[in-house]
Amino acid sequence: MAGDQQQEEARRAAPLHVVVFPWLAFGHLIPFLELSKRLAARGHAVTFVSTPMNIARLPPVPEGLSGQVRMVALPLPAVDGLPEGAESTADVPQEKVELLKAAFDGLAAPFANFLAAACAGGREQAGFGRRPDWVVLDFAHHWLCPIAEQHQVPCAMFLIFTATATAYTGSRRQNVSHPRVTVEDFMPMPRWFPSPPSLAFRRHEAAWLAAATQLNASGVADTERLWRTEERCRLLVVRSCPEVEQPRVFPLLQELYSKPVLPAGLLLPEDGRCESDGDRAEGSGVVARSGALQWLDEQPPGSVLYVALGSEAPVTPASVHELAAGLELSGARFLWALRAPSAAAAGTPPLPDGFEARTRGRGAVCAGWVPQVRVLAHAAVGAFLTHCGWGSVAESLRFGHPLVMLPFITDQGLIARMMAERGVGVEVARRDDDGWFGRDDVAEAVRRVMVGEEGKTLARNAKRLRESVVGDDSGRQELYVDELVQCLQRHRFT
Ligand SMILES: *[C@@H]1O[C@H](CO)[C@@H](O)[C@H](O)[C@H]1NC(C)=O
Ligand SMILES: *[C@@H]1O[C@H](CO)[C@@H](O)[C@H](O)[C@H]1NC(C)=O
Repeated sequence: MAGDQQQEEARRAAPLHVVVFPWLAFGHLIPFLELSKRLAARGHAVTFVSTPMNIARLPPVPEGLSGQVRMVALPLPAVDGLPEGAESTADVPQEKVELLKAAFDGLAAPFANFLAAACAGGREQAGFGRRPDWVVLDFAHHWLCPIAEQHQVPCAMFLIFTATATAYTGSRRQNVSHPRVTVEDFMPMPRWFPSPPSLAFRRHEAAWLAAATQLNASGVADTERLWRTEERCRLLVVRSCPEVEQPRVFPLLQELYSKPVLPAGLLLPEDGRCESDGDRAEGSGVVARSGALQWLDEQPPGSVLYVALGSEAPVTPASVHELAAGLELSGARFLWALRAPSAAAAGTPPLPDGFEARTRGRGAVCAGWVPQVRVLAHAAVGAFLTHCGWGSVAESLRFGHPLVMLPFITDQGLIARMMAERGVGVEVARRDDDGWFGRDDVAEAVRRVMVGEEGKTLARNAKRLRESVVGDDSGRQELYVDELVQCLQRHRFT
């Protein structure tokens, strides 16, 4: 008996082979890669599944871990209307993301072939020869669990959204008792949420959410994808931690989804040193990307507002114009990572005439890619104007920056309200019905964060939140990954 037990324990403690498969968006690919690196660093084998172009564009896995992470590229099937070579949401305008989902659904058969081959290995083997212990998948893979079940490989869903947004969505069961149909239905947090009333979506954000639940070209709406996948997963893993959200949200999620829900921690990249910082001259009048850091070197400590709205926020040329005028009005020093508003519109949007001349010396505009973590880590940066994507807010939290917040879609509005509730940021005021904002709204929010007593309080709160989330090093966050790994090991055969 004792021998059997020992054998059983050894079987459970054996290193895992985990297949991870993110949705085709860099906001998903990167956190899945960060999770993969952490599993690899703990001695587990990770097979990372994506498409060729996405794998080619991922940052390299550090040399010490590269033997533990294997990339598997499944070619993306062609779909009418989807531009050739488009493999991620960054490659298509918002209205074609649905076609990308249709193409993505075509990966079911290639994935089934891959998994069948991977399952030819035994459970006694190690590394990539080992039959996978888990598939860690994303919200969009409604066809994957049935394939994994055929091979008795359990699935875990890794959600890159906040726990609060996941609780807002709820499971299919909650939609029966609490259906959302109209835009108004989508505005408040549901009654099961231990809410401060300030946590709610604005009308224009709710309108976007209501539209996103409609059927589209792929035939399966996002919420339906999430539910169909979640229902067959053994556990949910959330890229967050109780310190940064209401602690009660994690137990609430277990109730709502009727299964274990584990925080993975924020999975922040090491410290930005691995981000490449090469030179690439961009158009005239803008600084090349390594120039961003050089420019920061010349600015006083804590004086610069870093401005970045992510790569996929639906920013119109008109809002770029108002943002520029607002930055100018505010009088603040700023470094603006300005990207083309969407893949459809080539080039960066036009700035107001004479903008760069008038802000020269105190403002810099960088076209193209900016090493965001290195910029946020720079001593000259004192605050962050952000679209409130969870990845950006988490990166910023780690350096304790107060936020000027300009959310657009998905869960960004909810994140902005969470951060306002924590006293670490101020939102740019927007018109409720259509979300319009003007230069004065931008200037006012920037001034509130960058100068005066309110600014000092926000900065203090942001430092305090940083303390409670990351502490003196990232060790605290790593404990969440340790617990996740233990859970994956314990439950792999049950
Ligand atoms: C939730 O339920 C309502 C009412 O049955 C339905 O109209 C709606 O489509 C459901 N929501 C989703 C996302 O399926
Ligand atoms: C889905 O289609 C509707 C109606 O055509 C559109 O308004 C909405 O923006 C689309 N949603 C997404 C997420 O593409």
